Amino acid sequence: MRIAMIGGGYVGLVSGACFAEFGSDVAIVETDPAKLSALRAGEIPIYEPGLDAVVAQNIEGGRLSFGDDIAAAIHDADAVFIAVGTPTRRGDGHADLTYVYEATRQIARAARSGLLVVTKSTVPVGTGREVARILAEERPELSFSVASNPEFLREGSAIQDFLRPDRVIIGIDRRGPDGGERAERVMRELYRPLYLIETPVVMTGLETAELTKYAANAFLAMKVTFINEMADLCEKLGADVHDVARGMGLDQRIGRRFLHPGPGFGGSCFPKDTRALTAIAQDAGAPTRLIETTVAINEARKEAMAERIIAPLGGSAAGKVVGVLGLTFKPETDDMREASSLPIIARLVREGAVVRVFDPQGMQAARALLPAEVVYVEDALAAAEGADILVVLTEWNVFRAIAPERLRAAMRGRAIADLRNIWNPEAMREAGFEYQSIGRP
Ligand code: UDX
Repeated sequence: MRIAMIGGGYVGLVSGACFAEFGSDVAIVETDPAKLSALRAGEIPIYEPGLDAVVAQNIEGGRLSFGDDIAAAIHDADAVFIAVGTPTRRGDGHADLTYVYEATRQIARAARSGLLVVTKSTVPVGTGREVARILAEERPELSFSVASNPEFLREGSAIQDFLRPDRVIIGIDRRGPDGGERAERVMRELYRPLYLIETPVVMTGLETAELTKYAANAFLAMKVTFINEMADLCEKLGADVHDVARGMGLDQRIGRRFLHPGPGFGGSCFPKDTRALTAIAQDAGAPTRLIETTVAINEARKEAMAERIIAPLGGSAAGKVVGVLGLTFKPETDDMREASSLPIIARLVREGAVVRVFDPQGMQAARALLPAEVVYVEDALAAAEGADILVVLTEWNVFRAIAPERLRAAMRGRAIADLRNIWNPEAMREAGFEYQSIGRP
């Protein structure tokens, strides 16, 4: 199979490289010249464990290439995937589809008859149908197939998630020329290596596939938000949220994963997709009130987290030194999008704190997003240096290994706000800290 992947961002790059790993010939189209030349030189613009090796292997094997010309990439392709960005549109929470529709028009202009066009980006319900309409409008003399193939990979474990997914969702436009038969055949062929590991494939319609992606992300965001609320309740009642999560999660109808409390969900997907789903649902006249509430609770949580840090400082952060461990929205990524650290640190700076931060991968991206007053240091101990309080915002493994005595010696105060529960409360109290974590007695 030959495929073109429009967009060399997170989803495009990982999916493209992994389809090549599955044995297809993949041409990735990236129009940002700086990104393109980096990719061609084998440099990966994002931090994602294992991605560099998969990219290098497949470039060397001649199955993966990069370019900026859509026409050349789709020239003899069996399918073209659209994996461009769909940011939140200003004002109304909807996803901005400018890039998706622009890519569609460019594909149409260069296409030959029979081409299969697949949306890989997370797109609102109805986008696939609109893609089909644009293709027909641009090239009425040709026939196209359209499919939706949402991607469920997580940052930090993207390669494993793509190569060994829980399931594959394929939505086919049955109104296409042959009832979608060819589209289904091509899609099944692309994912053929997964049949060996018996990955379930949900073959369905366009709108259903599009909605499934939103439903999955919204449900997971709700699950995280649920355990965050339980954690707050545990604190009031003297219960332990980890045992509650385990006790609940062992019920197979609930499941153990995604029940880890923290400072609120962030990242490139959950915040954007929950907002988009509520906007879609409102427009459709069937508002998703659970998700609307999830979004509101998660926003409020970030403010509440800042309060937790300020309280042990005597209620005022002015002139206090706050050491911060971790900035990214989760570990094993350099992604700062919608990270809880952003509003929390902005608030601390506004209230006059001196904020010293360290993150293993996120500091470069953070510089563009955090207030200019923030001090960036080279390791965790340097962040703790002279701090009145030390705050854990991302659960990087390197932080777990630090000896508490060394932190204690570096700090001026004794307060710790461990907002990811990476340390043992007893051990930290024995080491002389005034230690608070989330939802534990
Ligand atoms: C998510 C989905 O998991 C993935 O399927 C989809 O394709 C894209 O969005 P990602 O954003 O990479 O992936 O990260 P994920 O691991 O899902 O975490 C999202 C946020 O929830 C992070 O801020 C994380 O810290 C938080 N989270 C997750 C928790 O606070 N507790 C948990 O138990 C799990």
